[in-house]
Amino acid sequence: MQDKTVYLNGEYLPLSEAKVSVLDRGFLFGDGIYEVIPVYFGKLFCLEAHLQRLNNSLNAIRLPVALNTQQWLEILQPLLVEGDAQYIYLQITRGVADTRDHAFPEQCEPTIFAMCSAIAPFNRESGVQAITLDDMRWALCNIKATTLLANILLRQQAVDQSCAEAILLKDGYATEGAASNVFSVIDDVLITPPNSNKILPGITRNVIIDLAKENGISLRVESIPDADLRSASEIWLTSSTREILPVITLDNKPVGDGQVGPIWQSMQNLFQEYKRAVS
Ligand code: PDD
Repeated sequence: MQDKTVYLNGEYLPLSEAKVSVLDRGFLFGDGIYEVIPVYFGKLFCLEAHLQRLNNSLNAIRLPVALNTQQWLEILQPLLVEGDAQYIYLQITRGVADTRDHAFPEQCEPTIFAMCSAIAPFNRESGVQAITLDDMRWALCNIKATTLLANILLRQQAVDQSCAEAILLKDGYATEGAASNVFSVIDDVLITPPNSNKILPGITRNVIIDLAKENGISLRVESIPDADLRSASEIWLTSSTREILPVITLDNKPVGDGQVGPIWQSMQNLFQEYKRAVS
């Protein structure tokens, strides 16, 4: 294991020395939230948007951590390393309580952990395979909670079938991927489901919505019925670590003509230009 420097509760330590108590509520209950922030050309991508979502998650779980953008930058900047694309993983749990009790402890210092890792290279150009699965997660998917057991089981089912992702269906509509947002192209219109408690408000998703609007790509933010997803000419999955992934088969059937689509190619170019422009 690479002994890189990580941040834990005010200290920079070798990874091998960073230790958290077994009474930490993150360990016992998954009582915490997190962010994944890409780093391109040495700069944190869409930092303000990620910190806004971090604060929304903290507020939603009633965990006050009052650090401003400058203070977060001071914590995260020293972790960045030279080289290809990286990402910061930032996790905040409710901290260590004396006893295991579901209810919040009266006094508890949040545990703050951050580390920087390389983004694994991904061959997007040839497209990926996906399956659909029943979205059996909880009703607060807008919170970026560390409690990810359902997402893990769903992603693993996809991997077991040699697929990159599971696209989740709830009440006959596509919600998102196990760890990504979903877009489809239907009659040349790019469509993504609206933000709600059924999906995570993805930062990559937001960038794509803005790029579509600025560049004359027809876009609608609306629910995608299962049947429409299956007749889409393109399907994409988006996230901070995978960017924009074109899906070429869904449940073993070709998406469109089974090739990476032209609207994905245009958006891929716009996204790569945008990454360079903001760094
Ligand atoms: N996950 N939906 C879910 C359930 C996710 O876990 C993610 C990202 C997204 C995409 O959000 P963004 O574009 O802000 O990365 C949507 C991260 C990468 C993870 O858990 O590792």
